[in-house]
Amino acid sequence: MKSRDIRKQFLDFFESKGHLIVPSAPIVTKDDPTLMFNNSGMAQFKEFFLGNATPKSSRIADTQKCLRVSGKHNDLEDVGFDTYHHTMFEMLGNWSFGDYFKKEAINWAWELLTEVYKIPKDILYVTVFEGSKEENVPFDQEAYDIWKALVPEDRILLGNKKDNFWEMGDQGPCGPCSEIHVDIRSAEEKQQVAGRELVNNDHPQVVEIWNNVFMEFNRKADGSLEKLPARHVDTGMGFERLCMVLQGTQSNYDTDVFTPLIEKIENLTGKKYTKKAANEEEEKTNIAIRVIADHVRAVAFAIADGQLPGNTGAGYVIRRILRRAIRYGFTFLDKKEPFINDLVAILSAQMGEFFPEIKSQENLVTNVIKEEEASFLRTLDQGLQLLENVVTETKGKEVSGAKAFELYDTFGFPKDLTALILKEKGMYYNEAEFDTELQKQKDRSRAAGEVATDDWNILVEGNTETFVGYDQLESEVKVTRYRKVNSKKDGTLYQIVLDKTPFYPEGGGQVGDKGSLVSANETIEITDTKKENNLILHIAKKLPENIASTFTAKVNATLRAESESNHSATHLLHQALRSILGTHVEQKGSLVSPGYLRFDFSHFSKVTDEDLKHVENFVNARIQEHIPLTEKRDIPFKQAVEEGAMALFGEKYGDNVRAIKFGESIELCGGTHVKNTADIWYFKIVSESAVAAGIRRIEAITGNAVKDYFNNQEKALDEIKAALKNPQDTLKAVASLQDENTKLKKQLEALLKDKAKNLKGELANEIEEINGIKFIAKQVDLDANGAKDLAYELGTIGNNLFILLATAADDKPMLTCYISKELVAEKGLNAGQVVRELGKYIQGGGGGQPFFATAGGKNPNGITDALNAAKDFIK
Ligand code: ALA
Repeated sequence: MKSRDIRKQFLDFFESKGHLIVPSAPIVTKDDPTLMFNNSGMAQFKEFFLGNATPKSSRIADTQKCLRVSGKHNDLEDVGFDTYHHTMFEMLGNWSFGDYFKKEAINWAWELLTEVYKIPKDILYVTVFEGSKEENVPFDQEAYDIWKALVPEDRILLGNKKDNFWEMGDQGPCGPCSEIHVDIRSAEEKQQVAGRELVNNDHPQVVEIWNNVFMEFNRKADGSLEKLPARHVDTGMGFERLCMVLQGTQSNYDTDVFTPLIEKIENLTGKKYTKKAANEEEEKTNIAIRVIADHVRAVAFAIADGQLPGNTGAGYVIRRILRRAIRYGFTFLDKKEPFINDLVAILSAQMGEFFPEIKSQENLVTNVIKEEEASFLRTLDQGLQLLENVVTETKGKEVSGAKAFELYDTFGFPKDLTALILKEKGMYYNEAEFDTELQKQKDRSRAAGEVATDDWNILVEGNTETFVGYDQLESEVKVTRYRKVNSKKDGTLYQIVLDKTPFYPEGGGQVGDKGSLVSANETIEITDTKKENNLILHIAKKLPENIASTFTAKVNATLRAESESNHSATHLLHQALRSILGTHVEQKGSLVSPGYLRFDFSHFSKVTDEDLKHVENFVNARIQEHIPLTEKRDIPFKQAVEEGAMALFGEKYGDNVRAIKFGESIELCGGTHVKNTADIWYFKIVSESAVAAGIRRIEAITGNAVKDYFNNQEKALDEIKAALKNPQDTLKAVASLQDENTKLKKQLEALLKDKAKNLKGELANEIEEINGIKFIAKQVDLDANGAKDLAYELGTIGNNLFILLATAADDKPMLTCYISKELVAEKGLNAGQVVRELGKYIQGGGGGQPFFATAGGKNPNGITDALNAAKDFIK
């Protein structure tokens, strides 16, 4: 059965059991600071378990793109070494939100596996939670009894908290679980060791395929459990592992999810993937191929969902995954050129039907990966050179661990590559020292990133918080809950939730509102507003003394208006770019703040100055047309798209959306906007640059910021005019200054040439003969180029010359040495060595060829000593 049919059968099965089938959420999470990537199918439904929102159906099923590379669930280092862990994988899942519970979940799981997929019952094992005294959660008798009716008791195993109590993170919904494991070993192997011995024991052919979690609790900040308001089911089946079972292979990598990628890697590298490696060398190749086949999926899907590789946060994780793949290719497959990007076409052909984001962005994803590859390969090259230097400097066989760490940390040069190269030279680095440095660095960043979030203090139960900020900037409110958050970075902050709020929470690129909560006797400053799991969090440095009073929530109207101006301008900019550059332009990210706006978009080359002007004019024309805002607050998604709004990849949209229209510009948007384009006043682009291959960035300003911008420009121009003594025509004055400058330069050059000629005559007379060598060492009043010319000129005078000229133009000492070729050939003199030695006197160094070399330094006072030393040397 093809993997695409396996996926479809899962979804069809649960549809037939009354489940609503929904698309996978983007792999990169938004609005949840506790999670960088979706790490399980349930992540997008977290708020339903917590009771912060209501699902549109109490039964849902899907396949979710998951990434387990950070936080509580992190498999990165295992990937490639075994045959069943992945960075990105698909998790097939079905959910009950306060609807069915253990009986249905277990029976349906069994029905699907054994009757639809027809997996033989005797290769399956199941596990049940044995209970935990410490947590005060009893043995799961209910699940045990349900299973007992389906499988022989010797196939039901009891599991402890580690294996059979599932938690998404350190806090949040959790509960006992029941797993289904499969034993696909040969009959012979089964005879030797019973499958039940190997369950949960890291055996590659006895693996967990499905986890059924019975969500009943919420893990609080202090580590204790509280009952959730309702009981839920959360299940997750590893799609790739299921394919392994149904396609009768022994490894996920031998299923049709991976074989097309592996074949392409074989083609591109000329290496062979052996299902069973015969020796260490083959196993290394296999690991590298698995790493690359796995990692390209994670990276490609993250980019397609809008997460570019970068230096911080989620971007950094993606960059590290890609770099891990590149260096496995570099070291074990001998690929020194970019090639991983060539796999994107295969992925797109294979998965594009079900995940259209990868197909429609195939070019962009390919280009971004290609550029990352090229740049990291350059880093590896530089690292190799640096390592060469380290090797030369090292006495003995042991390179210091601190040096190896510096290479790793500053240049991204992998430590196993360092080890490998050193080994080839019979050397090694001090691993203990390396580990100490690494630990120190980890401690530093952990301390910097530590955040302790307290539990909520709930004043009013339930969550009926309403956002009124589209229509009001002030409103009478009550606090419904608050909590304290401590972090190294921001100190102690409070998050306050209100019954209703005019504060816009950061989202859709627009920054959160600032403002205040005012009561009869105090004012609390709100420094930011964010959204988390459907709650709007007002961030404050302190809590009101009387938290139960009624407050007036006041948004800072000036800042809000500036953000609105920039936000509406962003929409017009998007429209302008699509109409001027073409419809290949797609939004790839944006930042809308009171000060300025930033807009990232797909486009293959630099935007010319002329096009930028067109874009600017286009937006300003819309501003001058005074187009009123048309806001459609709650229209069906389908209608909005039919009216011309564009859905962005990597965004999660509800059934009903908000559409923002300014004339022909229509976007799906939750942000706040001006009432009329005239309110933007003026739009000015201040920069255009590259963010990544195929992605450009425009920064622009509007309104007051443009006034400031023009005022500053005017001031600068006034200052220039004043400096030029207020000429009639400034441009002409600058041009004539430039002309004059060119003329003077020419004259100066001619004068210097003359001077050098005279010097040549003078110096020729001063040449003395020492030991058969015609010697001169002298300081001259020239610049570096002049000294070079003079040395060559003097060199034409005759044979057996040793010329050393010192200069100190701009207080930078410089030695220039010329040695006739006979002296180089017969006496073994070497100008490079000479300047290196003498360079020490001027605190510098340099080099060159045996007959000509220069050295620059820091200490002009050392020149006399250097010249004397040269004479001593020749003597
Ligand atoms: N959330 C459960 C898991 O990820 C199903 O294993």
